[in-house]
Amino acid sequence: MKVIVVKDQAAGGVEGYKVFKNALDNGAKVFGLATGSTPVTTYQEIVKSDLDFSNCTSVNLDEYVGIAPENEQSYKYFMKSHLFDQKPFKESFLPNGLAANPAEEVKRYDKVIDEHPIDLQILGIGRNGHIGFNEPGTSRDVTTHVVDLTESTIEANARFFASENDVPKQAFSMGLASIMKSKHLILEAFGENKADAIKGMIEGPDTVDCPASILQNHANVTVIIDEAAASKLSKKY
Ligand code: F6R
Repeated sequence: MKVIVVKDQAAGGVEGYKVFKNALDNGAKVFGLATGSTPVTTYQEIVKSDLDFSNCTSVNLDEYVGIAPENEQSYKYFMKSHLFDQKPFKESFLPNGLAANPAEEVKRYDKVIDEHPIDLQILGIGRNGHIGFNEPGTSRDVTTHVVDLTESTIEANARFFASENDVPKQAFSMGLASIMKSKHLILEAFGENKADAIKGMIEGPDTVDCPASILQNHANVTVIIDEAAASKLSKKY
């Protein structure tokens, strides 16, 4: 893993932007995208720039089950307001949170990923080491699936909702096997509450207890973290 330590999330956004620019300059056409607080500064830098994604495809990692795309809490809405309205892609895919048949939706999304192999995937990380919504214990062989969110994830995401009770209990998520197929991955993490997960991912054993540790087996991962998220690493970067 290539590890870049920056002062804060604003500086991390600039580094993340550079990785996107470099990928586009080198012909990347399919971008895997994430939601949450972490990628926001990278998206802000992209929005300010002259990068053009109008010939590109985006494929998002996940979406809550039971939430309509126009709902402000949906990941679709998040992507529109943070990126797509200002930087439209030729086509953008997310799981459909309102799919009547979740088993069919999972198959549809796997097909989307197979037909649009991801050149660059951006990831955040949960405090428990999840990537996408692949919670600790998730099999590494799964592709897209419906996930029961853990208490820790529900609690962490409650900040986006009126109350913890309003946080959906399930999500569609790309699986670890799907994520590992991306040609290049950037994982960003900012803040002290990510320090344990980052230590587990980089220095810990390669185990399903820390889903992100699977990235130790990928040949092309760029980790962008601030000093607080790097604070428990034994090696200095
Ligand atoms: C979001 C996603 C999640 C988040 C993670 C960190 O699409 O897949 O894995 O990246 O929960 O969330 P934040 O960035 O809000 O700390």
